[in-house]
Amino acid sequence: MIINRDILTLEEFRKQELRSLPNATGELSNLLRDIALAAKRVNVEVNKAGLVDILGETGSVNIQGESVQRLDEFANAEFMAVLQRGVSCAGIASEELDDLVAFNEELCNQSKYVVVIDPLDGSSNIDVNISIGTIFGVYRRISEKGSPCTVKDFLQKGELQVAAGYIIYGSSTMLVYATRRGVNGFTLDPSIGEFTLSHPDIHCPEQGKIYSVNHGNFFAYNEKVQKYIDACQRKTKESGGPYSQRYTGSMVADLHRNMLKGGIFMYPGTKANPEGKLRLVYECNPFAFILEVAGGAATNGQQKILQITPLSLHQRIPFFAGSKKMMESFT
Ligand code: AHG
Ligand code: MN
Ligand code: MN
Repeated sequence: MIINRDILTLEEFRKQELRSLPNATGELSNLLRDIALAAKRVNVEVNKAGLVDILGETGSVNIQGESVQRLDEFANAEFMAVLQRGVSCAGIASEELDDLVAFNEELCNQSKYVVVIDPLDGSSNIDVNISIGTIFGVYRRISEKGSPCTVKDFLQKGELQVAAGYIIYGSSTMLVYATRRGVNGFTLDPSIGEFTLSHPDIHCPEQGKIYSVNHGNFFAYNEKVQKYIDACQRKTKESGGPYSQRYTGSMVADLHRNMLKGGIFMYPGTKANPEGKLRLVYECNPFAFILEVAGGAATNGQQKILQITPLSLHQRIPFFAGSKKMMESFT
């Protein structure tokens, strides 16, 4: 039998990367392994989400007498557990937790990294079968190794991330992972339960034909944003417009599509909410990092997202991200 298998699994990819970095300790690589494991578990639950009404409402006790957790709480618990057990992570900050959690155990205190995470993004789309996701970023801690991590480890500028990624639970499940060396996409092959390298070395097209924004808020946006959205709808030689408007309400889905096809994503501030809705630390920074490595850009309308010093874990910020040329014509 001839076995011709050119596609690397995530495990094979990890080993290859480690070999090419002789000084690597493998800690970061282990983090990726842990995240992929949690992603597979979350994926199983996401696939069952449509059965929730049959198996029991969230928050209730199901037919087996188990309490049914909300999916975003389940995802949070799952990512936390694998990261703690994996001992490559000193602690996490999550959308689902008011405060950071330091894994105050001997082995975790010895580890170099902390993780910021939105365990389930786009959760309003769970009930209607639209793609949802997980977003994460990894920082090298600045607090002393050997002691519990502290809040300053999580409030570093996005440009100091060592890695970032997302998982999209969609028509297929994908893990997209970025380090400074590049962005790679792995699709879950359900027949073997492994992520496989389906999208090596992702580059975001410099110019695209898609804009993604909540159009319903148009009159609450400032004049600059309104003018840009208006321009997206017009035919000009230089922009190649009019563009198509695509917006699912899951930023993972919207940004994933725009990164692969070329496009711009916007979540501007409004008169009522000048800082917008999205969170700097665990939603915008990881995506800004991934997009910049892929050749795209991300700003708050004035400044690069990655250069902003976060003031608190759950800080919100206006967010504009996507193809390089489209971002240039916005700023
Ligand atoms: P989350 O589910 O983690 O709270 O985030 C949802 C976010 C983001 O994914 C999406 O782009 C945005 O909310 C949509 O908000 P609007 O409905 O206000 O457009
Ligand atoms: Mn979110
Ligand atoms: Mn969320």
